[in-house]
Amino acid sequence: MPKLCSSVLDAIGATPVIALSGFADPGGPNLLGKLECTNPGGSMKDRAARGMIEWAEQHYNLEPGAQVIVATSGNMGVGMAMVCAVKGYRLLCLVDAKINPATERCMQVLGAEVIKVYQRDETGGYHLTRLARLESLKAEYPDAVYLDQYDSPAAVAAHQTTTAPEILDALDGEVSAIVMVAGTGGSSMGVARYFKEHSPSTDFWLVDEEGSLALPCNKGAGPRHLNGMGTSIAPSNYVWPDFDSFVDHVVYVHAEESIRAAIQLARTDGIMVGGSGGAAVHVMRNIAAAHYGPDDNLVAVLPDHGSRYTETQFDPDWLAARGINVPEIFDEKPSP
Ligand SMILES: Cc1ncc(COP(=O)(O)O)c(C=O)c1O
Repeated sequence: MPKLCSSVLDAIGATPVIALSGFADPGGPNLLGKLECTNPGGSMKDRAARGMIEWAEQHYNLEPGAQVIVATSGNMGVGMAMVCAVKGYRLLCLVDAKINPATERCMQVLGAEVIKVYQRDETGGYHLTRLARLESLKAEYPDAVYLDQYDSPAAVAAHQTTTAPEILDALDGEVSAIVMVAGTGGSSMGVARYFKEHSPSTDFWLVDEEGSLALPCNKGAGPRHLNGMGTSIAPSNYVWPDFDSFVDHVVYVHAEESIRAAIQLARTDGIMVGGSGGAAVHVMRNIAAAHYGPDDNLVAVLPDHGSRYTETQFDPDWLAARGINVPEIFDEKPSP
């Protein structure tokens, strides 16, 4: 990152890698988290948003005032709204009813137009409904450029060239395992590609929510609650044979254990992440005990900050309405 940033876009990346000493089991491997909420838009998606807009500039010759459309579960919309604000493009974010109110408001504050769909698709998610609405939007905005983050070599490349080398550099090349969560695949496939090339001995663990159809080995559609994880389609970013050659292990999680882990991390290490970050640290701690020793460094990428989820994943009523049981987290105080 330059000493003096010419715009907020120069402040994307160079996020810290932090030892999660309180969360880790004593005597076990070193557990570390890459804190992506320190990106200026608040999540790792800032990296992909900048990469995708720069790609569009090369391929569509975007002029100031150009209309861009993106379908987003939240963080990509915020990141892209930030990039478009700097560059003078108009952005339409196609979102769905699962979005956090705070995230939606951030997009609007950054100048984006937000259109929301409310009907669940047959997989229990909303993406297929969003895609249907996208067709009508394309007719309404014939000059708009639609950027598909589910099929985006630019998003993959953004993480391959920034997130991954930052991790390897922070640990002087000594990374035994990376744990990332699955969504559109941009972040995980970018990081996995880099590590297979530059540190092939590093194990790559990918985490998805039960009921998601994102990965080739999915177990069928079901209800999903975590933001950013779980998809109604198989994103092209996870195409064969790349998936098999870059991803070593897949683990499925439930929202409940993920949200519990996120709250526990906040209390043990003062790091507040969203439910997807909770999923990553939950899996990291489980695999640490089963597969690694005290000299190993395990890194979980923590996609965003937890503060945007106070009305959803960290709200007792929201949790109760979805049958997600986290009784201890709001009552129990950590021991002194
Ligand atoms: C909070 C959060 N976690 C995880 C992901 C998944 O990342 P990706 O889409 O790069 O697979 C996203 C993507 O939007 C996200 O917002």
